[in-house]
Amino acid sequence: MGLRARRGLGQRGFGRDEGAAAGASRRSRAPARLEVRDLHSGYGRLTVIHGVNLDVAPGEALGILGPNGAGKTTLITTVAGLLPVQAGTIELDGERIDAAPAHQRVAKGLALVPEGRQVIGSLSVKANLDVMLLARGRITHDPEHQARVAEMLEMFPSLGERLKLNATSLSGGEQQMLAIARALMCNPALLLLDEPSQGLAPTVVEELAERLAQIKGTVTMVLVEQSENVLLDVVDRRLRLRMGRVEGPAASLKER
Ligand SMILES: Nc1ncnc2c1ncn2[C@@H]1O[C@H](COP(=O)(O)OP(=O)(O)OP(=O)(O)O)[C@@H](O)[C@H]1O
Ligand SMILES: [Mg+2]
Repeated sequence: MGLRARRGLGQRGFGRDEGAAAGASRRSRAPARLEVRDLHSGYGRLTVIHGVNLDVAPGEALGILGPNGAGKTTLITTVAGLLPVQAGTIELDGERIDAAPAHQRVAKGLALVPEGRQVIGSLSVKANLDVMLLARGRITHDPEHQARVAEMLEMFPSLGERLKLNATSLSGGEQQMLAIARALMCNPALLLLDEPSQGLAPTVVEELAERLAQIKGTVTMVLVEQSENVLLDVVDRRLRLRMGRVEGPAASLKER
């Protein structure tokens, strides 16, 4: 059965379910608009991204495809604030964020699911979910936080069965689900995903596609992948990156 045929589950919609999770849902942020203008970035004096423009409408899901070394990770980590901008601008809902440190971009609603997942292996699954809150000096019995955890466990039931296990004991697919759940714990308005399918079996990638279909529209998404796969079924629009440049005509805003 194809992804679209199975959308029934997704139609319930992340952030729209009844019950324990509803409190957090009502407080969900509206999806943000991302505008990247003539972006240049790289490493030290090396420029890898050469004048990239992106316009991603609120709630839109954009796919960025490109081969090894095209600059996908460099682009997405620059948007997240983990690499400095060499030239150009990045705006979230019309506000410049390109000079803001990464943690301030998180506070403004940007969340990154990094390449290679990077879950914190020495911590339990639950602590990986709590870590965003703890980093902001808040307490884990905050009702909004608890509702958010409940919402994540509803979306990713396998995590609920493994809450006390160290994240390293999870399978690759479960670690990817945890990395996504951890990013969603921040209640993001923009979710950046860097090759979430990497190293996963096709059936796991299908499951991941269902989860992304479930959250689609509730958060603006930029999904980076090396090649076509079932995850790209989820996006509204895709563009190709090659040698740090967007191929073809400039990406235009989706008609809404
Ligand atoms: N830390 C670094 N220092 C210097 N150059 C780097 C660094 N990281 C990446 N590069 C270079 O930047 C270019 C783009 O790399 P990047 O990791 O952004 O590509 P990618 O599209 O994400 O590739 P992949 O599909 O393999 O993940 C490559 O030429 C790479 O060698
Ligand atoms: Mg990469």
